[in-house]
Amino acid sequence: MTILVFDSGIGGLSVLREARLLMHEERFVYVGDDAGFPYGDWEENALAQRMVGLFESLLDTFNPRLAIVACNTASTLIMPALRERFSIPFVGIVPAVKPAAERTASGLITVLATPGTVSRPYTLNLIKQFAGKCEVKLVGATSLARMAEEHMQLRDIDTQLLREEIRPCFVQRQHRKTDIVTLGCTHYPFLVNEMRKLAPWPVDWLDPAHAVAKQAQRLLNKAAPITPYEQERLQSDIAIMTSGNPTSAITRLLSSFGITLESMCFPSLNAMPSD
Ligand code: DGL
Repeated sequence: MTILVFDSGIGGLSVLREARLLMHEERFVYVGDDAGFPYGDWEENALAQRMVGLFESLLDTFNPRLAIVACNTASTLIMPALRERFSIPFVGIVPAVKPAAERTASGLITVLATPGTVSRPYTLNLIKQFAGKCEVKLVGATSLARMAEEHMQLRDIDTQLLREEIRPCFVQRQHRKTDIVTLGCTHYPFLVNEMRKLAPWPVDWLDPAHAVAKQAQRLLNKAAPITPYEQERLQSDIAIMTSGNPTSAITRLLSSFGITLESMCFPSLNAMPSD
């Protein structure tokens, strides 16, 4: 049977690679809504409407056992609507505020995410609930997801722009300094080596992808185990990009992940504005 992993682009591959390690017997369908990328500055209602339409087609076509919304910008908005509308289990990804608050020594932590994610009531509530004793800096980065996509396609990135985007993450209060930056966007783990080199001082860069994969595994184990008949029918992993027209670099990248690109038609997209 199938697990669906969804993101606005190719950043969700950072979650897919963790999920595959834990659930190697499952077949994965990766979906990148590159026609809607980036999600970071979408208006909330329009984004929610778009995603429900996409999931209607995806669930009809693939009948997955579980879906992982590997996108913070979407998960901090849409999980209740998806769970209400569809009957399969959904797992989302949100900034790792709780683990950051538990681990920080300085009490200064940063959530680095898209402008959408840092402005969501969901994110603000996470901070209120779990990081009340910390000083939390919210950094809404406008270019990082796009830079990560470029980097993943082996294109050069603008190091100066990257330095400027991460600069506000680093806060100093007398002898205390930010010691944890949570990667609140699934694209960012692909840039983390570059960010480490440009950071004014070392920090822990927290990526919740493994915890999300674990949660998906827990939910699957609760559901009925896969039958021998289903096992025989296991197919290889595939990816769908909603544009129907990804770059050849993306096709190569997916193939290096052992994923074959397929095409699919989304009737809901024809009826919608593109941003
Ligand atoms: N990868 C997405 C996230 O985790 C968002 C990137 C974007 O579309 O802006 O938030």
